[in-house]
Amino acid sequence: MIDFAWTGGRLYVGGHVDKVGFAMLYPISNSSALCASARVSSSHDHPIASRAESLRCALGPHSPLRDRPKFVIRPATHEDAAALALLAERTFRATFGAANRAEDMDAHCRNSYSAARQADEIARIDGATLLGLANDALIGFIQLRWGTAPSAIASLAAGEIQRLYADAAWHGRGLANALLQAGLAVLRAHHLDQVWLGVWEHNPRARAFYRKCGFVDVGEHIFQLGDDPQRDVLMARRLD
Ligand SMILES: CC(C)(COP(=O)(O)OP(=O)(O)OC[C@H]1O[C@@H](n2cnc3c(N)ncnc32)[C@H](O)[C@@H]1OP(=O)(O)O)[C@@H](O)C(=O)NCCC(=O)NCCS
Repeated sequence: MIDFAWTGGRLYVGGHVDKVGFAMLYPISNSSALCASARVSSSHDHPIASRAESLRCALGPHSPLRDRPKFVIRPATHEDAAALALLAERTFRATFGAANRAEDMDAHCRNSYSAARQADEIARIDGATLLGLANDALIGFIQLRWGTAPSAIASLAAGEIQRLYADAAWHGRGLANALLQAGLAVLRAHHLDQVWLGVWEHNPRARAFYRKCGFVDVGEHIFQLGDDPQRDVLMARRLD
């Protein structure tokens, strides 16, 4: 399965490239992460379109990318904060609501998923937020940050996957892996050499997903959900 491609010396992450319609490319050079997106009316009349064309050529006419579910990945902007806050709270409640006390869920959501709080997350210079969209609707996101890491992480240049959430309808369809690969590319572009995350011990699907993606258990820490101190498994992998 192809989630990204190298062409013209750059990494492009994208879900759908066509002659007419939405073209989304996420080029990452050695030193910087840039985003370009545009509505193109033909593959020849827009500067972005030539990149779209080269991505299509790089993938080839029979690429599995053509038959995959159509989604795009792009960095979040300030204008996305309110919609991101709604998606983040909805997916958090869908994942953990049934297994936790309502008051602990409410307290966590109040602190973490206001539009203002998400605007701060989007704006932080020691982090990044990438969004997954289908037909202009938000369907998933990944939030990254760097600067500090627990002692179990044996690197001074480590980045954290703070949050990775996909709408339930998109589980098992490649969106989470595409978000993850785009996130890892951002961390590499910031010259980090390791990535880590904390995942609730009672979240078997996420733990299986991360294992499949090369993460191993390296320790544990406490995640405070409202008044409930929970055991998170720390997982990490190298950024080769
Ligand atoms: C975690 C998440 C991002 C993974 O994305 P995904 O598209 O569901 O992942 P995949 O389907 O590619 O991989 C999940 C794997 O777990 C397996 N799995 C599913 N349910 C499982 C369970 N109860 N126990 C163990 N493994 C399970 C799947 O079979 C799959 O493995 P396979 O591809 O070898 O069959 C997504 O499920 C999600 O957004 N969950 C809700 C939010 C969340 O938990 N985020 C992580 C917080 S740290």
